[in-house]
Amino acid sequence: MATVRPLGSLGRLRFRAVERDALLRFDETSLGAFTSTRRWSETPNQLAALGVGVPLRGVVMVVHLDGVAHLEGLYVRAAAQGRGFGSSLLEAAAEAASAAGSPSLTVSTYEEVSFNAPWYRQRGFDDLPSSAFGPELAALVAEERAGGLHDDASRVILIRRLD
Ligand SMILES: CC(C)(COP(=O)(O)OP(=O)(O)OC[C@H]1O[C@@H](n2cnc3c(N)ncnc32)[C@H](O)[C@@H]1OP(=O)(O)O)[C@@H](O)C(=O)NCCC(=O)NCCS
Repeated sequence: MATVRPLGSLGRLRFRAVERDALLRFDETSLGAFTSTRRWSETPNQLAALGVGVPLRGVVMVVHLDGVAHLEGLYVRAAAQGRGFGSSLLEAAAEAASAAGSPSLTVSTYEEVSFNAPWYRQRGFDDLPSSAFGPELAALVAEERAGGLHDDASRVILIRRLD
């Protein structure tokens, strides 16, 4: 497992650059990549911001939604994918969430993109039905829907229990 560390201020500045590069992977799909337009400093309820690699190859941001940890973004530079960086970041995010007292970790992702829902399902995630959404998670889904996601049910919310 690669060493994951908290992102300092420079790493946080580079977060969006890593995100943009990682999303080149979506060129191989028929779907548009979903990018948040929020800047780091504007993202509320941050729980953890972690990075991996020198130079920086991957980043993850975890926030609180309804008091539960949620993966706001997980990105590995396109040229560095498939080498375990994403898995290391995910495990570190789960550890940070658990240490912060969260019982679980959620993520909003594409069902049919190989490196999205199938990737998470191989790593302990299952479906979270909409009846179990808290108000903040429901608001996030509504925000994504307004941005054109969820229209064709291709977007799913997954959850991994941490206890
Ligand atoms: C999802 C993501 C973070 C995974 O990072 P990663 O460093 O490639 O992850 P890993 O190397 O730990 O695992 C990659 C897996 O995909 C497989 N894989 C297959 N083809 C691959 C390819 N062309 N490139 C990379 N991985 C590939 C790897 O073999 C590995 O398989 P495994 O699940 O059997 O172990 C990365 O693909 C990414 O940044 N994607 C774009 C952004 C994105 O979709 N983020 C998630 C949003 S919810």
